[in-house]
Amino acid sequence: MSRFSSSRLAALTPYTPGEQPQDKKYVKLNTNEAFFRPCPAVFGAVGEIAERLRLYNDPEAKKLVKAIADNLGVREENVLATNGSDEALAFAFMAFCDEKRAARFPDVTYGFYPVFAAVFGVKAHIMPLDEQFNINIADYMNTGDTAVIANPNAQTGIALSLEDMERIIKSNPNNVVIVDEAYVDFGAESCLPLIKKYDNLLIVRTMSKSGALAGARIGYCVGNKELIADIKTIKYSFNPYNVGTMAQAAGEAAARDKAYYAEKTGEVIKNRSALCRGLDALGMEYLPSKSNFVLAKKAGMSGEELYLKLKDKGVLVRHFGGRIADYIRITVGSGEEIGTLLACLKEIL
Ligand SMILES: Cc1ncc(COP(=O)(O)O)c(C=O)c1O
Repeated sequence: MSRFSSSRLAALTPYTPGEQPQDKKYVKLNTNEAFFRPCPAVFGAVGEIAERLRLYNDPEAKKLVKAIADNLGVREENVLATNGSDEALAFAFMAFCDEKRAARFPDVTYGFYPVFAAVFGVKAHIMPLDEQFNINIADYMNTGDTAVIANPNAQTGIALSLEDMERIIKSNPNNVVIVDEAYVDFGAESCLPLIKKYDNLLIVRTMSKSGALAGARIGYCVGNKELIADIKTIKYSFNPYNVGTMAQAAGEAAARDKAYYAEKTGEVIKNRSALCRGLDALGMEYLPSKSNFVLAKKAGMSGEELYLKLKDKGVLVRHFGGRIADYIRITVGSGEEIGTLLACLKEIL
């Protein structure tokens, strides 16, 4: 730390991204990336763009926003594109939390929420998940806070029903409820049908997982027009050209190919069932996931030991501390990757 650092910087524990090792080729099941390629049109779209890189990108990302709005069946005024959904979340923290309005989120969830709270000087009200790692919806009802709920929840993969989400949103008419739907395409219910009904609902989404475009950094917010206008004010006060030309072209092509992605997310769901059957056969326990990952453990072995032994065999999974220290988080890979993982687990156990 330099001698010039602010007290806020001094108090920060930054987010730790998942490993992206360059030393050798791993079966990489640690950062919830897609095992499938982006849809064919993405390849052409990105290739054609080099000519335009001399110029600044469209700060409104109009074509991308239109493609997303068409894909979701909403209006363009309800969508704002961001540089990954991390940026959408950061904008939402800046826009809707302050000294008076705390952020409220679970103890086990996406690790960036507490970091955003710290970096933006916002108080965090952290609500423990129950023993089975479920969100207790009463913790989020009638609060004066801005709720931030990943649905399905990060690290557990467990999803709340649309009915429960609506109860939370309805009970907070004077606070924004931010619903992070990074993993919603893998079998959970989206809150999208509620955006016309509730002006306090902001949905944050990403093309990193189900869009197979993690490296392109494309996220977006969906919500009532006034909420989107607020996020736009933050964006234009921070980084107007936030989504690069190549990302805009790739995202637009992907958003236009619904059929390809429906097929691929269906494959993820099938592979998740195969992974769970394999874990059953090994006597491992796991949480009921609606995501493209499964949080699993083996009684009598720590999560860290499992993670290290798998890494030694060339299979990378994710290990976290705290309440889920006994577990490893396994991204749902291709059939072949799952086969390799299960064979390695069998040897280890
Ligand atoms: C719940 C959740 N939200 C948001 C993100 C951020 O995704 P990105 O910035 O790649 O869109 C992640 C990434 O792992 C996540 O797990």
